[in-house]
Amino acid sequence: MDILVIGGGGREHAIVWALSKSPKAGKIYCAPGNAGIAQLAECVPVAVGEFEKLKSFALEKEVGLVVVGPDDPLADGIVDVFEEAGIPVFGPRKNAAEIEGSKTFMKDLLRKYNIPTAAYEKFDDFDQALAYLRSRQAPIVIKADGLAAGKGVTVARTLEEAEQALRDIMETKVFGEAGSRVVIEEFLEGQEMSILAFVDGETVKPMSAAQDHKPVFDGDLGPNTGGMGTYSPLPHIPASVIEEAVEKIIKPTAKAMVAEGRPFRGVLFAGLMITPDGKPKTIEFNARFGDPETQVVLPRLKTDLLEVFLAAVNGNLDELELEWSEEAAVCVILASGGYPASYPKGLAIAGLEADDDSSIVFHAGTSRGSGGEWLTNGGRVLGVVGLGADIAAARAKAYERAERISFEGKHFRTDIAAKALL
Ligand code: AMP
Ligand code: GLY
Repeated sequence: MDILVIGGGGREHAIVWALSKSPKAGKIYCAPGNAGIAQLAECVPVAVGEFEKLKSFALEKEVGLVVVGPDDPLADGIVDVFEEAGIPVFGPRKNAAEIEGSKTFMKDLLRKYNIPTAAYEKFDDFDQALAYLRSRQAPIVIKADGLAAGKGVTVARTLEEAEQALRDIMETKVFGEAGSRVVIEEFLEGQEMSILAFVDGETVKPMSAAQDHKPVFDGDLGPNTGGMGTYSPLPHIPASVIEEAVEKIIKPTAKAMVAEGRPFRGVLFAGLMITPDGKPKTIEFNARFGDPETQVVLPRLKTDLLEVFLAAVNGNLDELELEWSEEAAVCVILASGGYPASYPKGLAIAGLEADDDSSIVFHAGTSRGSGGEWLTNGGRVLGVVGLGADIAAARAKAYERAERISFEGKHFRTDIAAKALL
């Protein structure tokens, strides 16, 4: 079966890599893909927002499945476009993707169905928001309602900082229309974890849990990024906490979406805080695979990913059991100098050669020069994944490989997965 994967980051490289292992997979196309993905798939130079072109391409090539990676096209209804054309597609429809696209929708849903999340109020009037804020205490969290490329959240340490965030979002409109509403939310203390699950209506098949590292520098310092590294599984988190998150948060949310007439099909990704009393609470839901969570979760999935996608699309995910490798995976992101602010592109990358099969390099932002040489082409350039018997071994492998790759300005966090080893 021929497949079209939509997206062009490290997450999509990991999806294409896992699909390419399936005996059922025929030709894999990726739009737009990247230079790393081009080693496994035919990259198609069409942007993720060009729905009509993508649809025509899928029809012309008679692909048997489309898989959508990023959030923006999902929020804009790309799945509805493929479904209307009769093309099997893995991902949530627009009305289900709203669980990520609108924080007020998500918060109201969780409140209505009594699903654990931080207490909150929502506002579409600046003065009312400000008055409410001034009646609260710091730390406090301010969130733009809509998609803001992962930058719409401010965890404010002081009320002044919170007020500034509110002004930026609602008055200056730094995120445009995404900031016409805000959520002001209780600050949750604790340890974060991500649980991604394959979901098909009420059927939920959780993936092995992962942890991301969002701030750019060691010790969680500096501005937030798309994610600087991940690891899976989480040996220091009790299995009972993970189970509680699945039973009390993810399954009830999938059920609530069905009850609301918005059945979710795709990957439901819960960002959770394990509060000091050991209870998980929802921070956010995403309607897609995480990046770079996917890079550590999929290499550990023993079940054929294509079978999982097809089961979800055909509505028989309940008949499938997911099998996980005992191995651990650690992903270290190598970023361009300056990221997450501005950074140069087109710098030569050396040392990409593989030594053995205990590491994988997923490309996020690379291209090839006229002589075939590897060049940087993004903020997050590469995700170096180490595999090993446990987190310590996987981490050692990831860092050993990360050190061998070089490009001018390369930077990465040196404390990925350190928490798991304390
Ligand atoms: P988001 O963009 O929604 O993933 O939020 C970005 C980050 O902000 C999360 O990964 C958390 O670290 C932090 N965050 C969001 N909401 C809260 C909250 N209610 N309490 C504490 N931290 C939060
Ligand atoms: N790594 C976080 C995300 O994909 O949203």
